[in-house]
Formats: sequence, structure tokens, C-alpha cells
Amino acid sequence: MLATLPIAEPDPLWALINAFRQDRRADKIDLVVGVYRDASGQTPVMQAVQAAEVRLAAAAVSKSYGALSGNLAFNDGMSRLLLGEGAEALDRQCTIQTVGGTGALRILADFIALVSPQATIWNTNPGYVNHRPIMTAAGLSVRTFRWHENDAGLDLDTVIADLAEARPGDVVLLHGCCHNPTGIDPTPEQWRRLVGLCKDKGLIPLIDMAYQGFGDGIEQDAAGLRHFAKELDTVLVAASCSKNMGLYCERTGAAMVIAPDRGPLANIRATLERITRANYSMPPEHGAAIAAQLFEYPETWLAELDTSRRRVADIRRDLADALVDCGAPELFQALRRQKGMFSLLPLDPHQMDRLREDFGVYGTSNGRINIAGLLPRDIERLAEALRAVSSAACQVHAA
Ligand SMILES: Cc1ncc(COP(=O)(O)O)c(C=O)c1O
Repeated sequence: MLATLPIAEPDPLWALINAFRQDRRADKIDLVVGVYRDASGQTPVMQAVQAAEVRLAAAAVSKSYGALSGNLAFNDGMSRLLLGEGAEALDRQCTIQTVGGTGALRILADFIALVSPQATIWNTNPGYVNHRPIMTAAGLSVRTFRWHENDAGLDLDTVIADLAEARPGDVVLLHGCCHNPTGIDPTPEQWRRLVGLCKDKGLIPLIDMAYQGFGDGIEQDAAGLRHFAKELDTVLVAASCSKNMGLYCERTGAAMVIAPDRGPLANIRATLERITRANYSMPPEHGAAIAAQLFEYPETWLAELDTSRRRVADIRRDLADALVDCGAPELFQALRRQKGMFSLLPLDPHQMDRLREDFGVYGTSNGRINIAGLLPRDIERLAEALRAVSSAACQVHAA
């Protein structure tokens, strides 16, 4: 059996992370790992989470099995966080707890493969590095549409042109906010046009909400999703609590299926549970129990999340200012209007290599940097390095 084991290439992201760890330069800058860091470079446990854990430890009575759908209070809280209090769609949706946002994507991929195996998944290009592997692992075929920027923001005409070949029943995978890796988010008007496009063409939106609260605010970031939920019969949602609750290693997320009415909900739940049962039976309790506490006592959590959001926005502004000050090309100014933890630098792989080799700045080879990984003291040095590698001399070198 093992003689026929194909060679599996190591994950390039982890290779970069290891290279960073082995780099002995004291002033190296890690902009690879997709986690939030505070101004001292830590990825802290939120105080609200710590308080919740104390309460949970004091009240713990049993570690017996839970429900197949996971923590029911968590599922209820997640559906309200995503759709908004009092939303009409709350009455026609089914939400289950999953193993992180990744688990939500995979459970929904298995769901699509079961119900609609011929559906093509339409994925943004560039897109989140794990979307395609998750969808293809479920046996689904994937095509892409460009997710580019013009002077004003998302180039929606290109999106619409590329989706011209999508057929009714195909699934369009959209990022609910803070697009990874570009940071390019639709405007409210563009969300409306995307909803119209899906309606007209009979496409099913799958909204991946991995950064709710890191763009414009916890409610604002859900506006696109909520518009889809209001206007469309069927919507799929994958949500993660890794970033906005800092629960990364607790693997906490949710998968939601919105149906035309309440009729099919029991069957949808049974189907989702059948899929999880054949994978991991039921999800781990701890992260979801914490999240349920945050829903019950939201003040501290929401304040902490808002502090994180503001820090990311401030770094964007300060980096963009520093790039102006040092005379870097205008192209970099898109950083200023982009949203969330990531942006894609207008640099090619050679320039990203030079950034790493000559300046100790680590981003991924496609140009992605984690804005939330940047410390205030490193902003000017990063701006200078970006100016240097994007200079004409460097572009000749790269060619
Ligand atoms: C767009 C997107 N979706 C899903 C995920 C997965 O989230 P989780 O860590 O909760 O599995 C990520 C994580 O980086 C992401 O960026």
C-alpha cells in the first residue's frame, strides 16, 4: 500500500513559516501567518474569552457527548450574528456547529456534492488558498472568476463577464467581508448587483464569513450576506470564530443553510448531521461554549474586537502614509481603502523573494501580506523596503 503513496508537496505557507523561524536577523518581519497581532506582536486570548472560560470551568458538570449539531446556544447565537436580530431569514435557516470555518466549508462542500453533484463552484481569482482543495476534496469541480481592482475598487464588470458561463444551480463562493488575500470588498451597491446576478442566473451563493468585525464593524460586515439572505431563496454560509473571537486553536465555526421556507429544514439538519457523523461525529464543545457565553455577555468581546479592527485600519492608514512619504509608487495606495487583515501587494514573486532576502520581510510569493501582523515600529522600514523592491532597477532585475 505505502509503495504507491504519491509524493505530497509540503504546504508552501508552512515552508515560509519555518524559514522565518530559522532566520536569525533580529529585525525580521513576519507578515505570512494569518492571525491578528496586537501592538506588542502577541495574539492574545481576549479578556472576554478568559472570563467566559472561568465561568465555564466553575459551572462544568459533565464531559458527556453533546448533540450532533453541536452546541445549540452557539448555533442560535451564530445565526443571529450572521443574519441580524429579527431577520426574516432566521425562520428558514438551519445552522450547525463545525470544526472551524474550514470544517464549515467542507461540510457544505459535502452537502453540495450530495444534493447537486453537477454544480460547478465558482471561486474568486485570486482567492483563499484552501477553497479549491476543500471543494475538490468533496468531488466538486471548480472554476474561477477574476477579483481585481480598478481605480475605484472592485472591478465588478470583470466579475460579471467571467460569471457569464455559470449555469443555474452553480455555486458562487464569495467572501462575506475582508476578502482573503486581496482585501477588496464590494460596495453596498456592488453587493446589490451581485445579488441581482445570482437571482437572474439562478446561482447559489456560498458566503464565507471568516472575518466578521474586522472590516467596517460587526453589523456592517454582514451587510452583503444579509442582502443575499433577504432576497434569495437559498443561501449557504460558512462562518469562522477563529479571528473575531480569537478562538483559532479551539476550531470553532458554523455552517448555515437558508431554505426558501421552513418545510425542508428538518431534512437539511438531518442531512448535515449525517455528513458530520461520517466525518467526526460531533464537533468539540469548548470553543462553542465560550462563543455562546460571548453572545450572552457581548459588551467586553465587542469592545475588544472593535479595538482590533481599529488597529488594523490604523496600520493600513499609517503604512499608506509612510509609502507616500518615501515616494513609493501610487499603486500601493490601494492598501488604504482595502479591508481586513490581508492585502495583495503589486509585487511579483521575484520582488517578494528580494523583500525576504534583502530586508527580512516575509509575505507569500503571490504578494499577500498580513496587515495585522505589522508592528507600529516596523511601518517605516516596511514602506522603505517596498519602495526599494518596486524601483525600476529591481523590476529589470526581476525580469
Ligand atoms: C477566507 C477564509 N475562509 C476560511 C478560513 C478558515 O477558518 P478557520 O481557521 O476557522 O478554519 C480562513 C482562515 O484563514 C479564511 O481566510
